[in-house]
Amino acid sequence: MTAAPVDPTATPAWERLTALEDGFAPDLRAWFADDPERPGRLTFPAADLLVDLSKSLVDDEVLAALLALADEVGVAERRDAMLRGERINVTEDRAVLHTALRRPAGAALEVDGHDVVADVHEVLQRVYAFADQVRDGTWTGATGERIRSVVNIGIGGSDLGPVMAYEALAPYRQDGLECRFLSNIDPTDAATTLAGLDPAATLFIVSSKTFGTLETLTNARLCRQWLLDGLGHEAGSDAAVDAVAKHFVAVSTALDKVAEFGIDPANAFGFWDWVGGRYSLDSAIGTSLAIAVGPERFAELLAGFHAMDEHFRTAEPARNVPLLMGLLNVWYTNFLGAETHAVLPYSQLLHRFPAYLQQLTMESNGKGVRWDGSPATTETGEVFWGEPGTNGQHAFYQLIHQGTRLVPADFIAFANPAYPLTDDHDGHRTDVHELFLANFLAQTRALAFGRTAEEVRAEGTDEAVVPARVFTGNRPTASIMAPALTPSVLGQLVALYEHITFVQGVVWGIDSFDQWGVELGKQLAKEVGPALSGDADALAEQDGSTRALIAYYQEHRRR
Ligand code: F6P
Repeated sequence: MTAAPVDPTATPAWERLTALEDGFAPDLRAWFADDPERPGRLTFPAADLLVDLSKSLVDDEVLAALLALADEVGVAERRDAMLRGERINVTEDRAVLHTALRRPAGAALEVDGHDVVADVHEVLQRVYAFADQVRDGTWTGATGERIRSVVNIGIGGSDLGPVMAYEALAPYRQDGLECRFLSNIDPTDAATTLAGLDPAATLFIVSSKTFGTLETLTNARLCRQWLLDGLGHEAGSDAAVDAVAKHFVAVSTALDKVAEFGIDPANAFGFWDWVGGRYSLDSAIGTSLAIAVGPERFAELLAGFHAMDEHFRTAEPARNVPLLMGLLNVWYTNFLGAETHAVLPYSQLLHRFPAYLQQLTMESNGKGVRWDGSPATTETGEVFWGEPGTNGQHAFYQLIHQGTRLVPADFIAFANPAYPLTDDHDGHRTDVHELFLANFLAQTRALAFGRTAEEVRAEGTDEAVVPARVFTGNRPTASIMAPALTPSVLGQLVALYEHITFVQGVVWGIDSFDQWGVELGKQLAKEVGPALSGDADALAEQDGSTRALIAYYQEHRRR
């Protein structure tokens, strides 16, 4: 039995935070000027990451009250319950053990009398062996051709993690072996993903925790048909069965359904109901990535995840980075009125990282009831969003700098570029990565310290435009740096955000591991489908707006 959630708003720490918020007048210029130790005091190592929280909108009193809040709602107890394998996913009655996916071999974890880490490594070894066979060409297609293209078919957590990591680790990919990712049920996605591929050299990985997801199964059938058409085999023939066995593998917790689909169970990689979809990149769901970057790099990724897990488990609260960042988000959301949170990687390789984080954070903490079914007592999950710098600077940063809303932002940057390039220009050599990092540093400075009217005037600005050129500053940022975007560092970054999300969920008393909010739309799509296809009874069941939209569709659809 999991403990009832503590109402955060009824804790002494909340009362203290409410009092501190009243009249809170952050002044990062003064805070930095008066306290030269602030950057040092608020910068923390976490595994290989260096996390500078000194440009946050907190003073020592607020920070102390936030740490007290974590204590009073029992963050550490619930973290330990999660790590032990207790069923803290209450509404689905499941353990939450993504951290077991990255425990080193031999680091046994008994859940219900069973060592789950042994299971994890048994599957990992199979994934690695398979990845090696594809990489070295011993796994061939039905015609004996080497695999040159891998298509991961999956959606949500069965897509976003693999594609994000595939992009992030581009410099580590094996030449001559391309991965593509097919997720959307928009037929455009299947058509464009398959365009130009050679069926004889293409391997499909059907990735679905439940193996019941409409998009994934539809796309898997489309791909199977494309394969058989391409190879010239009749569906159901022996040659077709053999082709599917050579060109289709699956990753799922529902191995019975995998077999029903026609995929040989020998070519299926399992995982477990205690891995949430959005927490599954480091399970067999990462098979496409393991093929792309190889088992050794994949193992480094897992080690990175584990290093951050260990930091979260063992670091004292005042130096525990996921805890501190989660608490800061609570402060911004519940006390300072922030509704969104930007994640701005200064790394083009991380261009899918914000999209990945959207599922992680918003599917986890976008809830209005607590884990005992009672209503949430305060605002919960923020809207996460972002784009890589510097592109974002020329698009939406205006609002972050001068808009009327508070947008806390995480900046992520690396000391070393994946592709070191120099710009030889007018007799100077410029390290382009340095230009890039100068922007990262400049933006966080501008956001924190702004520019006063006097400073604007001192630049000789026409008085009429002085107000428009003032920057208020005091716009909070966290700066996350690492030596380079290696597989291990990527694992650390993902685990950091997993644990930040966890901390916020515990404070709010919500089950961060279910996702009932996605179900109603799926159910209604099944009901509305027949109405679209002309079923009069199904049409009559629809509301007036939906009926009118269907009428428009039927009038304009060309057959
Ligand atoms: O509909 C939401 C969701 O259940 C996500 O949580 C999950 O990652 C995604 O669908 C895909 O589910 P599956 O891996 O079972 O196909």
